[in-house]
Amino acid sequence: MNNKLKYFIETWGCQMNEEDSEKLSGMLKLKNYSRVISKEEADIIIFNTCAVRENAEQKVFGNLGQLKHLKKKNPKLIIAISGCMMQQPGVAEELAKKFPFVNIIIGTHNAYKFPKYLNRIINGEKQIVDIWNNEGEIIEGLPVDRLSSVKAFVTIMYGCNNFCTYCIVPYVRGRERSRTPEDIEKEIKELVAKGYKEITLLGQNVNSYGKGLKPEINFAKLLRRINNIEGLERIRFMTSHPKDLSQELIDTIAECDKLCEHIHLPFQSGSTKILKKMNRHYTREQYLDLVYRIKKAIPNVALTTDIIVGFPGETEEDFNDTLSLVKEVEYDSAFTFLYSKRNGTPAAKYEDQIPENIKHERFNRLVEVVNEISKKKNKEYEDKIVEVLVESPSKTDPSKLTGRTRTSKLVNFKGDHKNIGKLVNVKITEAKSFSLIGEEV
Ligand code: SAH
Ligand code: SF4
Ligand code: F3S
Repeated sequence: MNNKLKYFIETWGCQMNEEDSEKLSGMLKLKNYSRVISKEEADIIIFNTCAVRENAEQKVFGNLGQLKHLKKKNPKLIIAISGCMMQQPGVAEELAKKFPFVNIIIGTHNAYKFPKYLNRIINGEKQIVDIWNNEGEIIEGLPVDRLSSVKAFVTIMYGCNNFCTYCIVPYVRGRERSRTPEDIEKEIKELVAKGYKEITLLGQNVNSYGKGLKPEINFAKLLRRINNIEGLERIRFMTSHPKDLSQELIDTIAECDKLCEHIHLPFQSGSTKILKKMNRHYTREQYLDLVYRIKKAIPNVALTTDIIVGFPGETEEDFNDTLSLVKEVEYDSAFTFLYSKRNGTPAAKYEDQIPENIKHERFNRLVEVVNEISKKKNKEYEDKIVEVLVESPSKTDPSKLTGRTRTSKLVNFKGDHKNIGKLVNVKITEAKSFSLIGEEV
């Protein structure tokens, strides 16, 4: 085989998985392979999978079925599957059997081994299935091939210790472990030297960053250190678990100029009874008090959230508590999910599962309320001048530019294409439901 192989990566799931794909891609670019955007052109196809909801699995299986034809046309095609779905007990084995033409199956803990496995396949091995059950050391220094040259994800911690009763993540990503502040700062400084202006710090629960590190550090203190990095313009982070969002952190966000006025703060359910069954460790009242303190300390803060509808035992009254919380907080936007049963999690065994039709009916009602509020929130921007970090030409109309406000609103606007990668002022002329329209001033 020649050495200029072409690879295609499809990524499902959260930013954590996107960052993992950027690392897979980085390792392949280091081998001088080139990335392509169509499967038909590729010599190597990688699916980086998610397991958070059931339909994710169905999608991956469906996609794999379609690859059979490609493999027939090109027997040398290498197919690899990685990511969270592979960490679920039995899935890798089932997949290897059902789709014998898949060459490499790896999990979340050993993805850095990918180039080695790839070499073995290139040298004639047919199939490698290797899933590690335990998280190992944090691997530093992997090359990252980032999709954007303006903003970057930086993972600050891996895994999750929270075991929300619906969630598969702690089982597929292992226990919490934090990178050292020195390694994080080094990565960000290198990014800034390359011209990056914005970073998003990633972790399943960034608020518990630093546990077990010596000397002691917490998330607020890490943010203050990063805020001092010269040349960096904006800092974002996700996700914040409400139970761990301290007053120290709120004050830090309020005081540090680079920290954007946006917090993604999943509440999942507005009913204290359901929150308890979810093992979330806060009540409706505690959550609302937190929101109150955030809004007081950080004027114009944008709040976004995740909500689950139809968790086992959710009554009409519980659901109304969710609706009323959405109305009270007025989120800028929200990701809404139908509860999905995940084998191996406690909630999958609960007997009071909610019928699909009721889940859907509630879901539709919730989405309507969420969208109406998003629209109203966006309207508040009309005629205002906002700071936008220019990311690229607009996808829908390449003569325009696209970027985000500090509050993470997507803006499509008329402006000078030379300003890509810069902060500009944009006057908002029109608010849409999910974006803003404007012109550079
Ligand atoms: N660590 C983050 C997000 C993890 S997954 C946090 O704690 O907020 C992203 C979102 O998927 C969750 O916030 C939750 O709303 C949703 N989710 C997770 N498991 C789910 C399930 N089994 N069914 C439906 N939604 C789920
Ligand atoms: Fe899942 Fe809860 Fe951990 Fe988030 S905090 S990843 S929802 S277990
Ligand atoms: Fe993310 Fe899905 Fe894994 S949400 S952590 S890619 S299960």
